[in-house]
Amino acid sequence: MKSEKGRRDFLKKTSLTTLSLGLLPLASQQLLGNDLSTNDVNACNPTTLDYYGEGPFYTANPPSIVNNKLAKSGETGTPMIISGRVTNLDCTEAIPNAIVDVWHANDAGQYDNTSYNLRGQTKTNTQGYYVFETIKPGKYLNGAQYRPSHIHFKITAPGKTTLTTQLYFKGDTSIPIDAAASINSGTYDASNRIIELKDNGSGTLEGTWDIVVDGDGIKIDPNSSVVHIDKGMIYEAGPNPFSDEIRIRFGVFQGAEVGLAVFNIQGNKVATLESSNLQADKYEVVWQPDSGIPNGFYFIALTINDLQVHYLKVSKID
Ligand SMILES: [Fe+2]
Repeated sequence: MKSEKGRRDFLKKTSLTTLSLGLLPLASQQLLGNDLSTNDVNACNPTTLDYYGEGPFYTANPPSIVNNKLAKSGETGTPMIISGRVTNLDCTEAIPNAIVDVWHANDAGQYDNTSYNLRGQTKTNTQGYYVFETIKPGKYLNGAQYRPSHIHFKITAPGKTTLTTQLYFKGDTSIPIDAAASINSGTYDASNRIIELKDNGSGTLEGTWDIVVDGDGIKIDPNSSVVHIDKGMIYEAGPNPFSDEIRIRFGVFQGAEVGLAVFNIQGNKVATLESSNLQADKYEVVWQPDSGIPNGFYFIALTINDLQVHYLKVSKID
């Protein structure tokens, strides 16, 4: 049974006159940094192979990742959360049920080659999103040089061939001297596989990586994963991460049936914050999740006349 318990403390209108249309693109750009979708709206780059391919340390048939936790609790290292969306080659469709098989070294740069520690597979949800929590991989020697910290991925869209590659992290001093991670053009171009990690304020690094592979899924409106700038948008959701409550400011640009709801990472609705006919205006809602709502990632989704105009990822912590 899904919980739909959302508590709306108030719905406040503020003046639309402060909303300058000229500011909207900038506002949307700022929001993109918090959005689960790609940071560049116009970029659609098919995910490339890694020059080193699978590497020597893959173990077949890893277990399923439970509760998004790849690393066991107590695993030494810096906590890290990687999430993103899997789409088809022209980024027009999100791919549900794609298998995302990951493995990486532990904090000391060692692989578990006898069992499945830090090895597992997950599937994208109904909206094509995946997420897993782990620790930042340590570096290991490859000849005389350390390989940059990396995560191995095998991505398989339903009915399609597997793409095997590796993910790296911006600022890693070993990237320029690594034979694979330093490649910035051609078949093994790694430049779209080097992502930024940000501390979420509680010591956990967060990174977003969208994966583009051969596959079939559900149609994405060209703009809907980011924002329909002409219909409405979520300006802000904060604090993020949040504990007891999160304040969401959104704008409706035309009178419409407006929905604002919270979904968990599996794509299940956990709260309905707004569902009514609203006039064009700016609104503010506070969500105070009940005690049964676990910590983790949530998506706040704004719909206008049932068209999803904006997703925003937030995380609940203690
Ligand atoms: Fe490796």
